[in-house]
Amino acid sequence: MSLVTIPPRPGDVAPEEWCRRLEAGDILFFPDSPVPIPAGDLEFLLGRRQSGSALHKNIAYKPDRDSLSGVDRGQAGPEAAAEIFRLHSILRRYSRDAAGFLASFLTPYEGRLRLDYASFRPLEEQGRDLPPRRRNDLLHTDAFPTRPTRGARILRFFNNIHPERSRDWVVGEPFEAIAKQFAPKQIALPRPNTALGRRVKSMAASAGLGRVFPALRRSPYDGFMMRFHNFLKENAAFQAECRKSSVRFPPGSSWLAYTDMVPHAVLAGQYALEQTFLVDHAAMVAPEHSPLSVLEAMAGRALT
Ligand SMILES: [Fe+2]
Repeated sequence: MSLVTIPPRPGDVAPEEWCRRLEAGDILFFPDSPVPIPAGDLEFLLGRRQSGSALHKNIAYKPDRDSLSGVDRGQAGPEAAAEIFRLHSILRRYSRDAAGFLASFLTPYEGRLRLDYASFRPLEEQGRDLPPRRRNDLLHTDAFPTRPTRGARILRFFNNIHPERSRDWVVGEPFEAIAKQFAPKQIALPRPNTALGRRVKSMAASAGLGRVFPALRRSPYDGFMMRFHNFLKENAAFQAECRKSSVRFPPGSSWLAYTDMVPHAVLAGQYALEQTFLVDHAAMVAPEHSPLSVLEAMAGRALT
């Protein structure tokens, strides 16, 4: 993994090259964010400190529904309602601006990129008390429990909006190296669905059960990626002994990474914005590095 600093005029480099670097497991780093946050919005976001605020937790913005989740509407008096309304407009704009930037920067992905959730992360990451599978400070590759991607890639764009402090990550070797280290000995490779399994899943889907039980919507690929996420977080030897390096993202910077292939952990930092994109596997310029291609080559069969 390399940290690739993007020059102020990235137009001198062919966009395919940035896609290629991302798909090889590099992190693209922008010392000055190409999606700056207006001063008034920044002041509002940094003011969400008090735990009495309706907006003191990590909050997700869902562009397809134009809705917020994670806000504490239970205490929504007029002041809290105004806070929620303001945050909603800030995240709506952030999401739109991040999407606009990506569309102009990674042109080879045009038309094959879906806008997923955006998030505001106001909590201090150091010392958060979370169950192991939800901890951010343990190295992991991303997989979404309720939103299987069926092979689409998870590309994430981040802004460190803390006025003074860096956001401190640790990153490990890309997916192919660690998957081959542990699969199939310590973690089984994905198995294709049996004919019976496919029939049960399709009956469950037509009965609407997929909404209640997201596991029913997972392809064999998604099932593996979810198990691998949990396996890495729960593997104390991997956490202690794997090859890793520290990266500190300074205030005002942004970075972009395929977090389904770059093992990452957040050790410290507070106040970040993030926008997730799902990129069609068919849009990859170097598909041989993708988790889906690596797993299909190992398993010798299609997995979505
Ligand atoms: Fe993650």
